[in-house]
Amino acid sequence: MSAASNVDLSVSIGGLTLRNPVMPASGTFAEGLEKVMDFNRLGAFVTKTITRELRAGNPLPRVVERPGGLINAIGIPSKGVPYFIETIMPHYAAYDTPLVVSISAPTAEGFASLAAELSIPGVAAIEANISCPNIEEDGKAFAMRAESTQKVTRLLRTATELPLWVKLTPNTGDVPEVARAAEAAGADAVVVANTILSMAIDLKSFKPCLGNIMGGLSGPAIKPIVLRQVFQCAKAVKIPVIGCGGISTADDAIEYMLAGASAVQVGTATFLQPAAMTTIIDGLEAFCLRRETPRVADLIRGVIIEEADEPDLAWLDPVS
Ligand SMILES: Cc1cc2nc3c(=O)[nH]c(=O)nc-3n(C[C@H](O)[C@H](O)[C@H](O)COP(=O)(O)O)c2cc1C
Repeated sequence: MSAASNVDLSVSIGGLTLRNPVMPASGTFAEGLEKVMDFNRLGAFVTKTITRELRAGNPLPRVVERPGGLINAIGIPSKGVPYFIETIMPHYAAYDTPLVVSISAPTAEGFASLAAELSIPGVAAIEANISCPNIEEDGKAFAMRAESTQKVTRLLRTATELPLWVKLTPNTGDVPEVARAAEAAGADAVVVANTILSMAIDLKSFKPCLGNIMGGLSGPAIKPIVLRQVFQCAKAVKIPVIGCGGISTADDAIEYMLAGASAVQVGTATFLQPAAMTTIIDGLEAFCLRRETPRVADLIRGVIIEEADEPDLAWLDPVS
C-alpha cells in the first residue's frame, strides 16, 4: 500500500511480491542512478547481464540513435562472477528492494551452472537472458526456438530454487510458442522482450553505423510491436508476463498491464530521463486514484476485446 494513498501498487511475480510493478531493464541501469532516485521506491533491481567468462564486448561504435529509438550492439561486456559478487552486489545490499540477476551463457549447461553459482543470499530471482547466441546451434539465440528454450529452461530449473524469469527475444515469428515452452519447462515468469534486430548505415561513409554491423532496436519505436507480443503471450501462458519495450511514461506502463503484463521494465527511457521509473510509479498511482482502482494488479489483462458479430480473432494466436 502506498503511504500517500490507499492504492495497493504491489504485484506478485512467480513467488516474489514486488512493492510496485516498475523495474529497470537489464543493461540500462547502474549503481550511480541512486543520485537521482530513491532505490527503495523501485519494484526490483535488474542487473546488467553477467557471464562467467570475462568479455570485452563488441567493437565500437556500439550505439546509434534513430528516430524513436536506439540501436545498440554492446555485446555483454562482463567482468565475471567474483567481481559481480564482491563489487556490484554490495551496492544493492543497502536497499530493501529485491535484486534480480540477469545471466547469460553460450550453452544450456553454462546457463545452469551460472544460475547455481549465483543462487546465493541477496539474490531474489534469476533472469535468464536467453536472447544470446547458443553455440550448440550455430549461434542462433536460444529464444528463437521453442525446443532450445525448453532445454535451457529445464536445466536452469533444476539448477536453482530461486524464482526463474526467462527473457525472450522479439525476433522470432512465434513468441507465444516460445513463452509456452519456457512455462512448460518451469519458468516462473517470462520477460517480453529483448531488443529487435536492426541496422543503420552512415550516408557519408556508406558503412554500417555499428561496429557489429547489426544491433538491437529499443525505445518508443518498438512499443507497439512488443505490446502485441505481450498480449499474445499473456493469452498463451498462465505464468506472469513482464513487459519490456519502449516504456517511457506511466501511460505506456498501463497499456502494457492492460495487454497482460504483470510488471514492466524500463530501459532506454532512463538514458533520456534518469528518474523515468519513479515518475512512472507516481503516474501509475495517480491513474489508479483517478480511476478508483484500489489495486494496480486489477489493471493486468484489463484490455476489453469487443466481440464482433462474426468474431475472427484466430489470427491473434493461431495455435490455441
Ligand atoms: C544499452 C543497452 C544495453 C542492454 N543490455 C542488456 C543486457 O545486458 N541484457 C539484457 O537482457 N538486455 C539488455 N538490453 C535490452 C533491454 O534490457 C530491453 O530489453 C530493451 O532495451 C527494450 O526495452 P526499452 O525499449 O525500454 O529499452 C540492453 C538495452 C540497451 C539499450
